[in-house]
Amino acid sequence: MAPKVKAPTTQYVCSQCGFSAPKWLGRCPDCGNFNTMQEEVVRPSEPQKTENRGGMYATKTKALPLSQVGYEKFDRVKSGISEFDTVLGGGIVRGSLVLLGGDPGIGKSTLLTQVAAHLAATQPSPTLYVSAEESCSQVKMRCERLGLNSDNLLLLNETCLEDIELSLGESKFVVIDSVQAIYTETLSSAAGSVGQVRECAARLMRIAKSQNITFFIIGHVTKEGALAGPKVLEHIMDTVLYFEGQQEDNFKLLRAVKNRFGSAQEVGVFEMTDSGVKSVSDYADIFLSETRGIAAGSSVTPSESGNRCMNVEIQTLISKAPFGQPRRMNLGVDYNRLVMLIAVLEKRCGIPFWNSDVYINAMGGIKLTEPSVDLAICAALASAANDVPIDKYTALFGEVGLTGEIRPVTYADKRVNECIKTGFKRVIIPAKNAKVCKKYEDKIELVPVQYVGQMIKALQLRPTNPQQ
Ligand SMILES: Nc1ncnc2c1ncn2[C@@H]1O[C@H](COP(=O)(O)OP(=O)(O)OP(=O)(O)O)[C@@H](O)[C@H]1O
Ligand SMILES: [Mg+2]
Repeated sequence: MAPKVKAPTTQYVCSQCGFSAPKWLGRCPDCGNFNTMQEEVVRPSEPQKTENRGGMYATKTKALPLSQVGYEKFDRVKSGISEFDTVLGGGIVRGSLVLLGGDPGIGKSTLLTQVAAHLAATQPSPTLYVSAEESCSQVKMRCERLGLNSDNLLLLNETCLEDIELSLGESKFVVIDSVQAIYTETLSSAAGSVGQVRECAARLMRIAKSQNITFFIIGHVTKEGALAGPKVLEHIMDTVLYFEGQQEDNFKLLRAVKNRFGSAQEVGVFEMTDSGVKSVSDYADIFLSETRGIAAGSSVTPSESGNRCMNVEIQTLISKAPFGQPRRMNLGVDYNRLVMLIAVLEKRCGIPFWNSDVYINAMGGIKLTEPSVDLAICAALASAANDVPIDKYTALFGEVGLTGEIRPVTYADKRVNECIKTGFKRVIIPAKNAKVCKKYEDKIELVPVQYVGQMIKALQLRPTNPQQ
């Protein structure tokens, strides 16, 4: 007996987190937000082709032994923008779904227009740019400004997903600008609602996998910085990228937060110019300041993210706390880590912070998440507290334990190599990493340290308790 087709029903879906409930609720029980439950009509999908086996319905697909499963090697296509390729893990994988999120006006459309134009120029199949937000003439104007011109680049101004599907034609690379602006006829809710975004993304995924089409999907972010619409969107995607940066700043960071075909730690650095988005390969201008070595409270650490190492400056400012609880403000550095390192410096090196406000910032808007930045944070704090600047040509890295010992970190040799490349003359390293870094001894002065106190001594930051 074939399964019965159910009548459409309604459900209430939270616009923030995607939680669904059969009745309306004032507050979403999942994310706790008020007034976010929106009504949505659910049309049951067509029953799948199934066969009846003893009262149970089972699909006809069969499980295969591992050795019999065929696969194609990932064929990576170059996008024409080297930093974009790096963040994707070495190029665009055919048939993948790439979601690009970012604040309004950050340059999402610009970046993907450039990528689409390059693909159109280099690939035999046409590239389709579906602009659901801007008219074709607006996209054309942007292309003129960016100096892009290829007849293999097709522009489509369409918001209905079913019509977009019909227009795909021979295209193997498709840009959807944006997922919040398109809708599917199977749902009656407005474009941009949770249900629409989820359904459109799922449908695009099915097309991508069945026809081996690569989709670049633009997604807007909410005020809180999360991708607008439900988090479920990220599960469907193969790669999720965030384009970040200050509006007034020319430098933008492209960060991979999920990547099925590469590292999710990658960061790409771009510059926004009149002629479009350009890859930046020399990071020194962005992550290092000119006052380095002159003002107290700044230190430099080689930070590893993804497959690359970058020297990043950490700046701290310490001011007298007038009354009450002293403040700890952190940007780009984990708050708990900062508080822990302040406690280590107070207890192990006798540097008082109890009556001081501490402000800390990683330059260039980068987020430093790995523990190897501990030593540089301690150095910046000690430098600011004692008002002694750190030498301009000294970098440092190492994890700091609660006892004040310095623990070894991964990729120590790669970090030292980066310091050599960017012109540093001395690097303070964990004693246990000294062996792997020995090969660079003749190129840079290596200072192995075991305790935080030793680092303070090496940098002449006047320790109060030099035994540690
Ligand atoms: N004529 C121009 N000359 C120089 N730069 C421009 C010009 N027009 C736009 N830009 C730059 O391009 C940026 C907007 O790029 P784009 O439209 O790609 O952003 P977006 O992220 O797609 O925005 P939205 O969220 O509105 O779709 C602006 O911030 C601006 O810096
Ligand atoms: Mg746009």
